[in-house]
Amino acid sequence: MSKPVRVGMIGAGFIAEIHMDAYLRLSDLDVEVVAVAASRMESAQRFAARYQIPHAYDDAYALIAREDINLVDLCVPNVLHEPLGLAAARAGKHIICEKPLTGYFGGEEATKPVGKTPKRLMYARAVAGAREMVRAAKENDVKLMYAENWLYSPPIVRAAELAKASGGTILEIRAQECHNGSHASYAKSWALAGGGALLRLASHPICAALWLKREEGRWRGGEPIEPVAVMAEVGDLSKVPSFLAEEEHFIVDDWQDVENWGSVIITFSDGTRAVILASDIVLGGIEDELHLIMSNCRIDCDMSHSGMLRAFAPNERVFAEEYIMEKVSTKAGWSYPSFDEKYLLGYPAEIRDFVESVSFDREPRSTGELGLQVVQVIYGAYQSAEEGRRIALR
Ligand SMILES: NC(=O)c1ccc[n+]([C@@H]2O[C@H](COP(=O)([O-])OP(=O)(O)OC[C@H]3O[C@@H](n4cnc5c(N)ncnc54)[C@H](O)[C@@H]3O)[C@@H](O)[C@H]2O)c1
Repeated sequence: MSKPVRVGMIGAGFIAEIHMDAYLRLSDLDVEVVAVAASRMESAQRFAARYQIPHAYDDAYALIAREDINLVDLCVPNVLHEPLGLAAARAGKHIICEKPLTGYFGGEEATKPVGKTPKRLMYARAVAGAREMVRAAKENDVKLMYAENWLYSPPIVRAAELAKASGGTILEIRAQECHNGSHASYAKSWALAGGGALLRLASHPICAALWLKREEGRWRGGEPIEPVAVMAEVGDLSKVPSFLAEEEHFIVDDWQDVENWGSVIITFSDGTRAVILASDIVLGGIEDELHLIMSNCRIDCDMSHSGMLRAFAPNERVFAEEYIMEKVSTKAGWSYPSFDEKYLLGYPAEIRDFVESVSFDREPRSTGELGLQVVQVIYGAYQSAEEGRRIALR
């Protein structure tokens, strides 16, 4: 027997629009977004009017208290995931939580700026917060669903099928998310973002790598293969003197106390590795890639530069207002225009999985436990980079 799903959306910004687009594609399921909350009433009302959502709030807790809602969708800044997630769990609502599950945003022990706080303290606090979210969901018998869209991206889903069919061993995963920098002001400060490129960008490839190795263990009928240690480097490459002296800057350069470049090597319990790269200093459009180097095959996923469509324009004006690709800085020359970017990045399949999980009471693919592991890997990586040593994940 399926259960009706009544959604309360918290947040009415960039990712809320993408989730809304996905809900609207679910005409075969009994799902309705009944309320939306934003920090300002005008934004909530504007969003509600655009999508015919009956109720708008500027108080997230009032939305959570609504009796008719059984699923709260958190599309709010990172710092709010944990408090709102805990409130929703304690109110008996299922939760969709955007990435990252939580992080470190400051506290009594924080140094100024927050990004300078010793990373072992950050690790302890962020992991404790993520554990508390997972525990609260279990105790209140609700699902905590971690919105990692890469787990639903068609190339990655297909790669998992091929890897399973091969029966081989995933010896190495190489994956990256890179572009020319975030323009959101909150992304530049640790107190608001909880970290830099590793948290904001690498959280996607890290989660995909953890999921693929987990699945590999299960395909063999055994235990999931888990991450056991990390080694990392991070840096602010926008402070390099010769770059600062250049007249024109094409990459974002006003970072405060967060890194805009990071790389982490993850060691898994079977001795295999993942090498993950995240960068805010790469021109030429977003690069979302994942490569499986296996004992008996190789599989390459490219979620950004689909080779199925290529276009050339002699100048910026030819394609007028047409959208080309996320973060590409010019429409002139050769380009790879995106088509159904949302589908290719997995958002509709992600929201479908979450709604079906609530409706039919089953486990989603992307769980709170996976979100917790991503927090462990990322903050373990921050500690590794600061202390210059390999960090075992406890
Ligand atoms: N999965 C992805 O690919 C992806 C992409 C972008 C963002 N995200 C995640 O989505 C989250 C939101 O990012 P965004 O880009 O949509 O941000 P945004 O700034 O566009 O939107 C944030 C929304 O949260 C609302 N908000 C802020 N404080 C609030 C409060 N106290 N109560 C109620 N609403 C409040 C704002 O009004 C705004 O509508 C972040 O955690 C980010 O990491 C994920």
